[in-house]
Amino acid sequence: MHFLLPAFVAFIATTSAFPTYKHVVREKRDRLPAKWAKRAKMDARAVLPVRVSLKQRNLERAHEYLDEVSNPASSKYGKHWSVKEITKTFAPSDESSKAVLQWLSEHGFVNIRTSGALHTLEFEASVAEIERLLKTEYYVYEHSESGKGYVACEEYSVPAHITEHINIITPTLHFDVKPHMKKRDVPNHVPNGESDAASTPTSNGSNDMQGCVDRITPDCLRALYNIPKATSKPSPDNSFGIVEYSPNTYNEADLDAFFANYTPAAVGQRPIFKSINSGSIDVDNPTDFDNNIESNLDLQFGMDLVYPQKVTLYQVGATNNDASDADFIKTKVVSTSWGQNENDISAAYAEMMCNEYMKLGLQGVSVLFSTADHGVAGNTDNCTDDGQFQPDFPATCPYVTAIGATQIDRSTTNLTAALAAGDQPEVAIYQTIRSGGGFSNLFALPSYQQAAVSSWFSNSPPPYGADRFNDTGKARAVPDLSVNGANYQVVMGGVATSIYGTSASTPVFAAMVVMVNEARLAAGKPSLGFLNPAVYKYAGKFVRDVVEGSNPGCGTDGFEAVEGWDPVTGLGTPDFGKMMEVFKDL
Ligand SMILES: *[C@@H]1O[C@H](CO)[C@@H](O)[C@H](O)[C@H]1NC(C)=O
Ligand SMILES: *[C@@H]1O[C@H](CO)[C@@H](O)[C@H](O)[C@H]1NC(C)=O
Ligand SMILES: *[C@@H]1O[C@H](CO)[C@@H](O)[C@H](O)[C@H]1NC(C)=O
Ligand SMILES: *[C@@H]1O[C@H](CO)[C@@H](O)[C@H](O)[C@H]1NC(C)=O
Repeated sequence: MHFLLPAFVAFIATTSAFPTYKHVVREKRDRLPAKWAKRAKMDARAVLPVRVSLKQRNLERAHEYLDEVSNPASSKYGKHWSVKEITKTFAPSDESSKAVLQWLSEHGFVNIRTSGALHTLEFEASVAEIERLLKTEYYVYEHSESGKGYVACEEYSVPAHITEHINIITPTLHFDVKPHMKKRDVPNHVPNGESDAASTPTSNGSNDMQGCVDRITPDCLRALYNIPKATSKPSPDNSFGIVEYSPNTYNEADLDAFFANYTPAAVGQRPIFKSINSGSIDVDNPTDFDNNIESNLDLQFGMDLVYPQKVTLYQVGATNNDASDADFIKTKVVSTSWGQNENDISAAYAEMMCNEYMKLGLQGVSVLFSTADHGVAGNTDNCTDDGQFQPDFPATCPYVTAIGATQIDRSTTNLTAALAAGDQPEVAIYQTIRSGGGFSNLFALPSYQQAAVSSWFSNSPPPYGADRFNDTGKARAVPDLSVNGANYQVVMGGVATSIYGTSASTPVFAAMVVMVNEARLAAGKPSLGFLNPAVYKYAGKFVRDVVEGSNPGCGTDGFEAVEGWDPVTGLGTPDFGKMMEVFKDL
């Protein structure tokens, strides 16, 4: 087990006289998230990096601002904001900064840094000092599977006159953030025993397509979704980011073996590496399934589909450096196949992160997240103790595009014929994993989704109520779209291995968005940015509905895929050819 913050230093003497204010609890946890246990009390002398996230201004207008630049009906469509405008609009008020700095200085904290976006104050303090500042106690918490230890507390308080000026303070309850984003969509390992480049299904019009029922290759995805193989020189302004969390790392030999099978010209191609919070990669170690699978999957398929477009790998290290979380994204599309149960994180943390994704949308970035692999049972394959389904965050943030999973129905006897006839050969995924889907307990139903979701409530009322999910009809619902997530032929240790997951689906849809951006940039248009208002508005023009299957979980049948939007496959699967037609001209 290793600690997040192992640096122990001499106890720092502090003054003893502090003003006495009435304190109020700022955040509190009722229970520990699944698989975490409280261990030893933290050494009072350990020094921790403290981050105080200040209340930002104008967030109540966030939805309106984002809608203006991403709703095709708006005259400001595509008029994305600069980082400077974003910082200026949302920066905390001087009053907030002053009040918090004053409180901190009364406690002897004077060397305080401000983050680039002005909403986070940073300083170092000993455990004893923070315990006094926040009237709390720090313990080490251990994750039963990874064995990792994190420093956290279960509630903290601030003076009554300060609470209105702050958002959250870390490290406190949020030890389960980034580093503990569960390996979403834990892809199940189904070795198919053969490295079968020779029998790769192709999209050259032959019956070889039938092989896609058992094995998904990049060519299968091109055939299923009507994606041409990219050939032209990409625009220097186009970009595609994939986020991974250390210690998960991709393997170079596997990447080349994958390219050799499917896109030989790409052999030797590597992602542009960007380390975030000390994220590191170990690209040539012997392949270890748990450590390599997510990165191998995302990069092999993501890079192949957009080649020769380059992909940027944002490799995030293991720190709980929360508040500036999304600031590092500089690409026009970003795909993340990681997440965690919404119920396991604090509402304030989820809202803060979601607002960071909103800011990316304002900048013209399309942010995509997968919805997890256990149907209605979220990321840990379990309902809450009181039987509630588990929606998955960040997919439930209304400012991201949430991607679920489908598969080719195994009863399809002639896939080529089905596709030629314009039939939907896919159903909600039922082999090995189930598509995450459901309703947020934190985020309200966004306007772009209102018609689709309310029609689902009236036409296909589920057999559950508030005992199982947020059935108010006022909650953000996921997924938005879905893409095949079964039998992906990921090369692991030199062998093609069948991998399943919404993890697989997400970078594939992201790749399609990258290709549409390519056409838009070539025509002098801005990137697509936040997709959902246009996705819902034009679904009828480019989406093939998925009407069969369900997403059972935690002993229930989950929800059913039905005509129109549903909480299993969202609106359905994209037809890229049609998507291009609709989206390139917006
Ligand atoms: C399609 O491609 C495969 C593999 O490259 C090849 O074996 C097959 O003959 C091709 N079929 C047609 C109809 O061109
Ligand atoms: C699911 O939760 C129940 C109690 O709420 C517990 O008994 C069970 O072990 C959990 N299962 C998993 C897979 O975590
Ligand atoms: C599948 O359908 C295609 C196109 O309709 C046809 O050419 C082919 O012969 C069919 N394959 C089989 C095995 O029936
Ligand atoms: C359901 O969602 C709405 C809208 O976000 C929220 O106000 C309400 O508290 C949620 N209900 C539950 C039980 O989580």
